[in-house]
Amino acid sequence: MSIISFRKTDFLPSSNTDAVPGARRIVIAVDGPAASGKGTLAKRLADRLGYAYLDTGALYRAVAMATLEIGGDPAQWTDVEPAINIIKRNLTPELLSNPLLRTPEVSEGASKVAALPQVRQALLEYQRAFAVNPPGYVGGAVLDGRDIGSVVCPDADIKFFITASVDERARRRFIELQQGFETTSFETVLEDIKRRDQRDQTRSIAPTLAADDAYILDTTGLTPAETLEEAIGVIRAQFLAETAETAGTAGSSSGGGSGGAAATKAEKMAV
Ligand code: C5P
Repeated sequence: MSIISFRKTDFLPSSNTDAVPGARRIVIAVDGPAASGKGTLAKRLADRLGYAYLDTGALYRAVAMATLEIGGDPAQWTDVEPAINIIKRNLTPELLSNPLLRTPEVSEGASKVAALPQVRQALLEYQRAFAVNPPGYVGGAVLDGRDIGSVVCPDADIKFFITASVDERARRRFIELQQGFETTSFETVLEDIKRRDQRDQTRSIAPTLAADDAYILDTTGLTPAETLEEAIGVIRAQFLAETAETAGTAGSSSGGGSGGAAATKAEKMAV
């Protein structure tokens, strides 16, 4: 069955109306290290659920690219500040999907600007506004990044932390770069990823971190389609559990049967 029918009615907590302006939207956080598959999963989840999608890494990449274009050092706030102002005025979906954001130089620069507290603060408001009020009056938003579940949206409805072995991640990034006609060796890609992991995990502000309540999903050896199905299974299970809990509470307070509402929802979800 299509998950769409389950999303429209049951996926939104009952206190929410459907996607109308002002209604609280579902927020799904997808965090993880470079090339773990979080972007692929987040995009597919958003497509499947009809939600808006934000690649927050692209924000940091855009800031890095603008800094490099003006000849600045991505590690120096005084160089990055003018770039931030340019980016804030020109944030468009086209900018965030520019393939030039994916070059190794920009990747390296992104991880440097991302370690600057001023940069993180400047991008925080945009990310939170997107989550609370995604474009298009859709029922929810999927954000991927490093600190979505821990810092940007600590109250996200569902949190995933996506991992994969470093070799697998380097292999994926290597293939991606080759398809983009970048000439680099596998060893260089592996070293780049290790260096970026180290910087992203050890920075003092918002390091790459699985939130305590995140579901950890290792995508090593999984195809994107298998990863998506696993994630959908987690979402179903979480909402089923919440439904059962609500029904149980309602049942105990009214003295009636407690399984009815949960069963109905489970039937609708065909799980
Ligand atoms: O996810 P992606 O590899 O495109 O991110 C590029 C860089 O941006 C990361 O290496 C990380 O330093 C930074 N980033 C971050 N917080 C996010 C998303 C990305 O620090 N939420």
